[in-house]
Amino acid sequence: MKLSIIGTGNVGLVTGACFSAQGHEVRCADIDTDKIDRLQRLELHSEEPGLADLVARNVEAGRLTFTTDTPAAVACSEAVFLCVETPQGEDGKPDLEQILAATQTVAESIEGFTLIVVKSTVPVGTTETLRRLISSSTGEPFTIACNPEFLKAGSAVRDFRQPDRVVAGCPWRASANSSEPTRATSPAASGWIRESAPGLSPPPPATAARACPRTSAP
Ligand SMILES: NC(=O)c1ccc[n+]([C@@H]2O[C@H](COP(=O)([O-])OP(=O)(O)OC[C@H]3O[C@@H](n4cnc5c(N)ncnc54)[C@H](O)[C@@H]3O)[C@@H](O)[C@H]2O)c1
Repeated sequence: MKLSIIGTGNVGLVTGACFSAQGHEVRCADIDTDKIDRLQRLELHSEEPGLADLVARNVEAGRLTFTTDTPAAVACSEAVFLCVETPQGEDGKPDLEQILAATQTVAESIEGFTLIVVKSTVPVGTTETLRRLISSSTGEPFTIACNPEFLKAGSAVRDFRQPDRVVAGCPWRASANSSEPTRATSPAASGWIRESAPGLSPPPPATAARACPRTSAP
């Protein structure tokens, strides 16, 4: 599949690198131009064991690219993963400003049916808020899911590859053959279960192959 990762921080970089190692074509986008410049030179901001090798091999294979052009990355993608930061605000609640802004960009950029996955840590009910935001901003078909992240610093690559639990909150029925450690539930319920790793039941509509170049613009 063609995937894009919005927010190439610790979670986004691990997620993008691991998906590309599974054979997916991944575009990692970020608004931080310095970070993207360094990643394009294979200078990582993360020292997660195994990550540097994973990134280098998949960049070399043409499956993993880094860009500041989020709209172009999203337009090419069948699935988009939101991995931006949700810092604690002054009132102790997560500050959703970054994920709202990133979601607005995604909404204005999708082309054709797109699965949008929230990996950022967000309060219960946020997926529905984002769904409404996207609906009001695009006429393109989409569905939104919540796959809350629980990578641990120092073992993030291993946690991705050998998850003890996968939580996918999605509006379609769980796949009949989904097995441990996958748990498919509603978007709201998934917010309560913040222990996860990648693995999503596929959305029902068939997605047309996208005619995008393999290498994205810097
Ligand atoms: N780091 C972890 O181990 C960890 C574990 C579990 C959950 N989480 C959650 O995952 C989310 C991401 O965490 P992180 O540690 O990777 O954050 P991070 O700060 O390392 O990375 C976030 C990135 O998003 C980018 N960004 C912000 N707005 C953007 C936009 N509009 N478009 C594109 N990029 C944008 C930032 O420039 C930054 O590089 C948070 O909600 C966090 O709570 C993190």
